[in-house]
Amino acid sequence: MPPILDAPPVLNTGDFEKISRIAYEHFGVDLRQGKHALIEARVGKKLRQLGLPSFKAYIDHVTSDTSGAALAGMVDILTTNHTSFFREPRHFEFLRDIIFPALRSRPQIHIWSAACSSGEEPYSIGMTLLEAFREDTLAKLRIRASDISTRVLETAAKGIYPAERMKDIPAPLQQRYMLKGSNAAAGSFRFKNEVRNLIVFEHTNLMQPLTPDYRCSVIFCRNIMIYFDRPTQQDLVQRLSQHLEPGGFLFIGHSESLNAIQHGLEYVSPATYRKPGGSPTSTSKNPALKIGQS
Ligand SMILES: C[S@@+](CC[C@H](N)C(=O)[O-])C[C@H]1O[C@@H](n2cnc3c(N)ncnc32)[C@H](O)[C@@H]1O
Repeated sequence: MPPILDAPPVLNTGDFEKISRIAYEHFGVDLRQGKHALIEARVGKKLRQLGLPSFKAYIDHVTSDTSGAALAGMVDILTTNHTSFFREPRHFEFLRDIIFPALRSRPQIHIWSAACSSGEEPYSIGMTLLEAFREDTLAKLRIRASDISTRVLETAAKGIYPAERMKDIPAPLQQRYMLKGSNAAAGSFRFKNEVRNLIVFEHTNLMQPLTPDYRCSVIFCRNIMIYFDRPTQQDLVQRLSQHLEPGGFLFIGHSESLNAIQHGLEYVSPATYRKPGGSPTSTSKNPALKIGQS
């Protein structure tokens, strides 16, 4: 006789509401509409991994863990960490062709990758920076890379990636900025210190107060806004704007839009917004010429 398998636990409405409320209150992630099946499947898988008998037991596990680790694990199962090198390449072309030339004479250039996942985004920014500022002093370049997930941040900080992820990195950049692993590390690549040293990784929950006084020229906040409802998006964009220098740029994901919310940024091109102000060197079609002068 085949073994009798236990039926998977069913997510009742009360537990669904509790889990989605935790996700919304702690991470801003809005799972309330039409996400019952998603939570049942993803949290159900986590229950099996943890050996917990029910969704209620999972909720107790998350709410009673004062270390915050269980809560941190929850965001990993409810959102995706999907990313890739040079994802949405237009933003990197815009950095290279429009923004960096305008920033060339700056003593400091700071860029923030605000939901960096496993690091592909900040390393792509790093390679683009190094290509543009090769003759300059590298001390003036800094990338802040943050995410809520400590799991992906650990991967990001290592800077080691399997060879199959390299397909999105042009060969000359691979040669200049990456080292091929050998022996036990065969099949993987590691970023050279030249790139790694540009990046500071930080745990940041974008729903919580952000570092006061931090200012940067460009913020990447891509493919995270889709998880947030409009009030959360509006609040986040307004808070991020405070960290942009006048004339600085915000990149969001190309499948995201700020159309439905109020914000003080100017639309530049798809998924690219600019904070008004900056040096009035030009009113031209090249908005980046105005970056700066904070
Ligand atoms: C799909 S990835 C985007 C990665 C990268 N920006 C890109 O476009 O390729 C979304 C990331 O947002 C992070 N995230 C979700 N909620 C967050 C929050 N409240 N604060 C900070 N990061 C969050 C997730 O951990 C995940 O790594």
